[in-house]
Amino acid sequence: MAAINWLLVVMFLCFTATQSGASSWTVTLPSSVKGLVGSCVVIPCSYNYPDPKKTVSQFTGIWRDQRNQVIYHSDPSKTVQEYKTRTKLVGKITQKDCSLKIDPLQQSDQGPFHFEIEIGGYDTYSYATKEVSITFVSDPKPSVSVTEEVVEGHNVTASCSVSQSCLSSSPKFTWSHNGVTHLETRQLKDGQWNLTSTLTFVSTRDDHNKSLKCTVTYKGGLKGEKTSSVIKVKYAPVNVKVDHTSEVKQGEDVMLKCSSDANPPANYQWFNENNTLHQGQSYLLTNVSRHTGILLCAAVNTVGQRNSTPVHLNMLFPPEIKNFSCSSEGDKVQCLCTVESSSPIMVHFVLSDRVLSNTSTNVRGLTTIVTLQAESGSSESVRCVANNKGGHANVTIM
Ligand SMILES: *[C@@H]1O[C@H](CO)[C@@H](O)[C@H](O)[C@H]1NC(C)=O
Ligand SMILES: *[C@@H]1O[C@H](CO)[C@@H](O)[C@H](O)[C@H]1NC(C)=O
Ligand SMILES: *[C@@H]1O[C@H](CO)[C@@H](O)[C@H](O)[C@H]1NC(C)=O
Ligand SMILES: *[C@@H]1O[C@H](CO)[C@@H](O)[C@H](O)[C@H]1NC(C)=O
Ligand SMILES: *[C@@H]1O[C@H](CO)[C@@H](O)[C@H](O)[C@H]1NC(C)=O
Ligand SMILES: *[C@@H]1O[C@H](CO)[C@@H](O)[C@H](O)[C@H]1NC(C)=O
Ligand SMILES: *[C@@H]1O[C@H](CO)[C@@H](O)[C@H](O)[C@H]1NC(C)=O
Ligand SMILES: *[C@@H]1O[C@H](CO)[C@@H](O)[C@H](O)[C@H]1NC(C)=O
Repeated sequence: MAAINWLLVVMFLCFTATQSGASSWTVTLPSSVKGLVGSCVVIPCSYNYPDPKKTVSQFTGIWRDQRNQVIYHSDPSKTVQEYKTRTKLVGKITQKDCSLKIDPLQQSDQGPFHFEIEIGGYDTYSYATKEVSITFVSDPKPSVSVTEEVVEGHNVTASCSVSQSCLSSSPKFTWSHNGVTHLETRQLKDGQWNLTSTLTFVSTRDDHNKSLKCTVTYKGGLKGEKTSSVIKVKYAPVNVKVDHTSEVKQGEDVMLKCSSDANPPANYQWFNENNTLHQGQSYLLTNVSRHTGILLCAAVNTVGQRNSTPVHLNMLFPPEIKNFSCSSEGDKVQCLCTVESSSPIMVHFVLSDRVLSNTSTNVRGLTTIVTLQAESGSSESVRCVANNKGGHANVTIM
């Protein structure tokens, strides 16, 4: 029973197939075709006719416009002047292919157009109900794609493509970035062409967050452009820097902060000549002293690592009074105060409650000898006071 049902289904399918396969006066055409002024266009077309039941061999294909003017005829003298040199059948008319090429396309070629066939010794038929128009594209944008994520130093590949119904000459592709370009022209079905320009270049971190622009210049001068999505370039840290206060006093704490330019953002480590001291972008160095050695910051990400230059803390130490002595002659007193300091100093003297400035100063390297000449008055004590950015020192003599 099931087998008989299947047989019926198969017979039915065969019958419908023969029915629809039976030929009649039909034409297959798109209702519109896109074109660019100055370029060429191909209208894909196929036609059919009822079986003449005899051999026919003389086929004349004719294309007409809405006013029934002949825009194509195999005999050029029958074609209107305006189209005479610009239209051509590109398929084999004897094989039911009526595809028409117009080259170069003019703004006045909108159509609509229709096809007509003359079959010698058989019949003539105008497929006037099926018309095709030309739609003019004024802003023909290419499509662009690009490697979206790349590690610095690896190639970025971008492609820019256009599709055209016909190829009279390749459009020119221009890229906003330099590199090696390669043009590929491929014919698709229905006479369509795909033109793809491929750009390859070695990525650098300067390409990060940038997009590429592709400009296509067609025959006839029309241009179209498209910008790609942005490229994400992963790169190892650069410009690794440590920020800290420029001057530190002995015994103080110093906040050190490391920064870098990196993608993805870096992690930070601190170390001295022997050990890793800390992980993290900021490092609080406590109780600095003359013995605080050289420090470095390392910025690390998935791509690589780079160290900062060694950190030099500009340490400020208080002055040291090496020697202070006075001699008196009558009511005059002369004092010499010898001070050692790594930064500029200010020295003054206190005689009882009088504050006096130096008489002369003699600097030799880190040592400064300051002289005071004054009336001794009723002074019981003399004090030399030295100040610098790192602190102060004083010595009193009776
Ligand atoms: C990068 O592209 C250039 C140019 O196309 C090619 O010569 C090179 O081999 C490519 N390098 C890699 C790593 O793919
Ligand atoms: C052309 O071909 C390329 C590669 O196959 C494809 O990625 C692109 O989308 C095509 N472009 C057009 C406009 O058809
Ligand atoms: C890249 O773009 C992202 C998102 O717009 C932004 O957050 C980031 O700071 C940019 N990076 C650079 C290096 O310009
Ligand atoms: C700071 O360091 C000095 C020696 O360099 C030490 O004598 C002192 O105790 C330290 N102070 C603190 C608070 O750790
Ligand atoms: C590093 O190690 C050496 C040898 O053990 C030592 O002499 C030096 O003081 C150390 N330096 C620091 C900054 O700890
Ligand atoms: C201190 O100064 C006095 C007077 O100039 C001198 O006699 C003495 O040798 C000096 N002492 C030192 C340690 O320099
Ligand atoms: C000595 O006195 C002069 C003039 O008052 C002053 O400019 C200079 O800073 C003083 N020198 C020191 C070491 O204090
Ligand atoms: C003198 O020095 C002592 C400690 O060395 C300090 O306590 C004092 O405040 C200083 N006096 C002046 C006037 O600088």
